This record gives sequence, C-alpha cells and structure tokens, in this order.
Amino acid sequence: MTRRPDLRSLRNRAVFITGAASGIGRATALRAAADGARLYLTDLRAGDLEQTVAEIRASGGQVDYFRAGDISDYETVRAMGEEITAAHGAMDVVMNIAGISSWGTVQSLDHARWRAMVEVNLMGPIHVIETFLPPMIDAGRGGHLVNVSSAAGLIGMPWHAAYSASKFGLRGVSEVLRFDLHRHGIGVSLVCPGAVATGLTETIDVAGIDTTAPRFAKARAHFVKRAASPDEAAVAILRGVAKNTYWVYTSFDIRLAHWAQRMVPPAYVLAMRAFNAGANRALPEVGRARRPELDRTTAAS
Ligand SMILES: NC(=O)c1ccc[n+]([C@@H]2O[C@H](COP(=O)([O-])OP(=O)(O)OC[C@H]3O[C@@H](n4cnc5c(N)ncnc54)[C@H](O)[C@@H]3O)[C@@H](O)[C@H]2O)c1
Repeated sequence: MTRRPDLRSLRNRAVFITGAASGIGRATALRAAADGARLYLTDLRAGDLEQTVAEIRASGGQVDYFRAGDISDYETVRAMGEEITAAHGAMDVVMNIAGISSWGTVQSLDHARWRAMVEVNLMGPIHVIETFLPPMIDAGRGGHLVNVSSAAGLIGMPWHAAYSASKFGLRGVSEVLRFDLHRHGIGVSLVCPGAVATGLTETIDVAGIDTTAPRFAKARAHFVKRAASPDEAAVAILRGVAKNTYWVYTSFDIRLAHWAQRMVPPAYVLAMRAFNAGANRALPEVGRARRPELDRTTAAS
C-alpha cells in the first residue's frame, strides 16, 4: 500500500494538463505554475497553447513540455505519453480538463454529435488515463487524477443527452478508479462544474438551433452572468487536489442540485421539469412536441 503524497503544495510536482490553451485548463495551469509545479501541457489549439506557455514562462513558471494534439486520437496521446515518460519520468498529477459541448433534442442530435461527445469527452480522458496512470503506479510515489465532468454528469439537464453520455461515462470511470487507485496512493477528484465563463460558452453547438439568434444570445448572456470565472474553477480544482476531495464543485447551485437529487428525489424531478420547460420556452423551436403519456407520470418517477 503506497501512501498518497502531500499535494497541498505542487512545488516540483510533475503535472499533466489537457485543455491548457483555454478556459478552466488554462486557468488551472497558470495557478499550478504559480504554486511551483513542473507543467506538461497539451491542447488541440497550437497557437493558444503556445500563448499559455509563453505567459507561464514570462511569469517565472516552469513548463517542461507542451505539444498540440487531439486527445480523441489514441496514437497521439500514446506517443505524447511515451515521449514525456521517457524524458521526464512519471507524472505526480494528471488532469483531464479538455472537452467540447454539443446539445440538442433527441430528434435533432445527429450521429456525428453523439459520437464526437463520446470520442473527445470520454475516450480522450480514457486515452490519457491508460497512458499516464500505469507509469505513475510503477513509480510508486502515488499522486492524483483529476477528471473534469460536469453538472451534466450528475443531473438531467435539458438537451444534454449526448454531452451527458460522455460526462456520466467519465464519472463512472472516476467512481471505480477512486477505489482501484487508493492502494497505489493515487487520489481521484471528479470535478462537476456548473456554468463557467469560458470559450465553451461561445462554442457550444446546439443541434438544429441558430446559436447566433438574439433569443439564444440572451440565454447565453444569462448563463455567463451567473457563471463562475475560470480562475474560480481552477481554485476549486487545486483545492480538491490539495485536500484529496472526490466531489469537486465550482459553484453552490450544483452542490445543492446534487444533494437534492440524492436526498429529496421528488423535488429534484420537479425542479428538472421546470428547468426543461423553461429551456423550451426560451427556445420554442426546440422539442415542443408533447407526449401526453409522459405528462401523466408522477414527479417521483
Ligand atoms: N464552461 C462551462 O460552463 C463548463 C461546465 C461544465 C463542464 N465544463 C467542462 O470543463 C472542461 C473545460 O472546458 P472550458 O469551459 O474551459 O472550455 P474551453 O473551450 O475554454 O476549453 C476547452 C479546451 O479543450 C480543448 N479541446 C477540445 N477538444 C480537444 C481535443 N479533441 N483534444 C485536445 N484538446 C481539446 C479546446 O481546444 C480548449 O482549449 C470541459 O471538459 C468541459 O466539458 C465546462
């Protein structure tokens, strides 16, 4: 049984982060660098990744390695992992932060969207885990794994079926690994952000909806207004690593929703129905078809 290392400080710890070019990943990389971590960074977007690296180095932070790549491509992740492990050894902390978001009703979600969610948001982290965790176990120093899921990995948000497929999947992987990895001294954090004001809010793709329409822009503005900042999310993630916390929330609303789902299921069902009805009112062109047989089901069903 390996003891988990003290990760209250990341000084000199090797930290691998996906999605480091933008949003939560970028903010987490900046914070980890300020805490003295040695960083290993990747993202799909080469130019933005270079900018993050330049910013970290300009402020005295240490980036030992960075490379642009697609986490949904197993060979890419494997090559990156082999290169990093051969040159620098095993990681102390691995963070799966990269992700994409696509929503839509079941009538409008096409196959490409369903598949993209699973390939990037679920298979991506799996590629990282299967590449980076065995060397971490072999090194025998313990460490920590961070998987960024979502509120959509906890609750049934409107039009999130494809996104939730990936985020509940990542939650399943995390739920097993939190116990499997314990004896290797490796902690696991499952991060469940609610709204966070990042580039993702600009790039969310909603099947069958013109996301440039004023009605959608209004809904997005509302989302951004009540959103946490990427830096607040980064602080919550690094606190989760420091304290070895499994459930990591970045805002109180999602902590409350998760609590209500488990403790007061009928209230959860009523709230989600209201949420769904509200969403459909905001975008009436989506999913208004009524199914009377469903309307008759009880709130606790
Ligand atoms: N922003 C939110 O409101 C919110 C809410 C819940 C969960 N999340 C999750 O947080 C994580 C970070 O998202 P964010 O909000 O910072 O968004 P973001 O768009 O700012 O950052 C995501 C990063 O992932 C990278 N990426 C996307 N596909 C990739 C691929 N195939 N390979 C490598 N890199 C890829 C992007 O280039 C981008 O830099 C995601 O997993 C997202 O699902 C975000």
